[in-house]
Amino acid sequence: MCGIVAYIGPKQAYPILIKGLKRLEYRGYDSAGIALMNGDMRVYKKQGKVADLENSLINEDVEGNIGMGHTRWATHGVPNNVNAHPHKSQNGELAVIHNGIIENYMTLKEGLVLRGHTFESDTDTEVLIHLIEDVMNHTNLSLQDAVRAALAQVVGAYAIVILSKNHPEHLIAARKGSPLVVGIGEEEGEFFLASDATPIVEYTRQVIYLNDGEIAIVDNGELSVRTIDNIIQTPYIHELEMNLEQLEKGGYEHFMLKEIYEQPKSILDSFRGRIDPKETEFHMRSIFEYEEKLRNIKRLLLIGCGTSWHAGLVGEYLFEEYARIPVEVEYASEFRYRNPVIYSDDLVIAISQSGETADTLAAMELAKSSGATVFGVCNVVGSSIPRMSHAGAYTHAGPEIGVASTKAFTAQVTVLAIMAMAVAKLKGNMRSDRLRTLMYELESIPAKVEKSLKLNDQIVEIAAKYKDARNFLYLGRGYNFPVALEGALKLKEISYIHAEGYPAAEMKHGPIALIDEEMPVVVVATNSAHYEKVISNIQEVKARKGKIIAVVTEGDTKVKEMADYVIEVPETDESLSPLINTIPLQLLSYHIAVMRGCNVDQPRNLAKSVTVE
Ligand code: G6P
Repeated sequence: MCGIVAYIGPKQAYPILIKGLKRLEYRGYDSAGIALMNGDMRVYKKQGKVADLENSLINEDVEGNIGMGHTRWATHGVPNNVNAHPHKSQNGELAVIHNGIIENYMTLKEGLVLRGHTFESDTDTEVLIHLIEDVMNHTNLSLQDAVRAALAQVVGAYAIVILSKNHPEHLIAARKGSPLVVGIGEEEGEFFLASDATPIVEYTRQVIYLNDGEIAIVDNGELSVRTIDNIIQTPYIHELEMNLEQLEKGGYEHFMLKEIYEQPKSILDSFRGRIDPKETEFHMRSIFEYEEKLRNIKRLLLIGCGTSWHAGLVGEYLFEEYARIPVEVEYASEFRYRNPVIYSDDLVIAISQSGETADTLAAMELAKSSGATVFGVCNVVGSSIPRMSHAGAYTHAGPEIGVASTKAFTAQVTVLAIMAMAVAKLKGNMRSDRLRTLMYELESIPAKVEKSLKLNDQIVEIAAKYKDARNFLYLGRGYNFPVALEGALKLKEISYIHAEGYPAAEMKHGPIALIDEEMPVVVVATNSAHYEKVISNIQEVKARKGKIIAVVTEGDTKVKEMADYVIEVPETDESLSPLINTIPLQLLSYHIAVMRGCNVDQPRNLAKSVTVE
């Protein structure tokens, strides 16, 4: 939530900042702003998207080799020009951009008001920059020492960048709880700062991921990293693996559509090199290193939020069926505040696309403090969750930019499936011929997903028919109950149509009351142990005149007779069917949203990386 980017070096900062902000816009798009230094310090900010800011600056002076930019997801204060970042200090000499929440800002503000400070905005961020100025006014501290002293008074989460009119040779950044990446430019004295590596990759591959409690200071062309207690750090320089094409739309109208279509490849990338069906071997460092522990785990806790939580629900079915381990799936936000019972022989797997979700991080911290082993299943390389985990596996889906998650979900399910198979093998809970069959089946999934994507034209037709519906119901059983939840979430997120996902059999305990001839009901009815039962559920909907859109296995004849539309997908093992059945539901949401004129990639009120609780 909130994206920040900054530059210092020989190039013009403005084009780097604007382009960087566009890449970070998935983190929030309530307002955007920049500060540029060229002798003086100029701050421009505007409610709305980065493009609105850019348009408003056509005739402005945007010269300068030092600058910073911010794209906002509002927490404190409505989205307007005044609450947009950067925020200035009382004397206008300092400016800050911030991602996170200063929890004790009210107390700090009261003190500052007593000392004569006046505030323009309703934000917590403005309080922070006034506090730094206040420390400087009342001490002889240098800017960087004043930043440290001020941060010591702050409770909350932040990634910040600070510019000072009087110290143009300085760029100061700090992080606690919100991500911050430093890019080391190819030219002398050139540095980039950003919430993630996407604004940086075009200019350099060398990055440092700041740790919590660290401050990065660029001073006269030299970078140093210190702790908040002023202890010098020797940061590890990472080589970025991301490439630029992954950050472009590549001819697709939207990132979401591109990402849906990337799934044959992203699923392949998520298992490539990790399974060897012939030998029934697994090549995953986390599994290898924690072999003994995994063999003895008594319980698995899967933790996530949003779509990642849905992947966790699929994981529950996978681990219970394959490895015969009891599993609990937890919303990170509930888990962290529930005083949960956690044992030291529990394995906790935190699932997250961004690797930065504040609630998931807090839940992991809690699990770690209780002695549990914590794995991460994450997409963004170098993000906080993998760094906080004991071990884990990247999903390797590549950058996901559409706010509604698509390819990250199928990659998460793939990685969880491999882990479940590997643990099943370790625990001796699955026959090797079944294991081998499943591994070969997993290898066949990308081609089957490719085939499912060919259903697009038919799905456009269905979308046109139901795009004006006010409600949708999604039903599924077993492995496809989470698929129904995910289908409904996708529709809600991007088309703003109310949608509910339900276990098909639960429908009769409430949602059935909603069914009439206006209600489209999407039913996942592919071959499974519950196939006949799902057919009974379809009959129940039909009897109430609901409209049935059914996802079925190719060649199905029974459902065809009852449904208004059938979407035929390739057959697979039931346990891997979420990887295929999700595809038409993603496409359905996408096309409905496009037909309704919605901003598919940046749906209202949402953000992709939720760094506040
Ligand atoms: C936000 C996003 C969702 C995502 C959820 C969890 O709500 O809009 O798409 O599923 O956060 O994010 P994570 O990065 O932890 O998977």
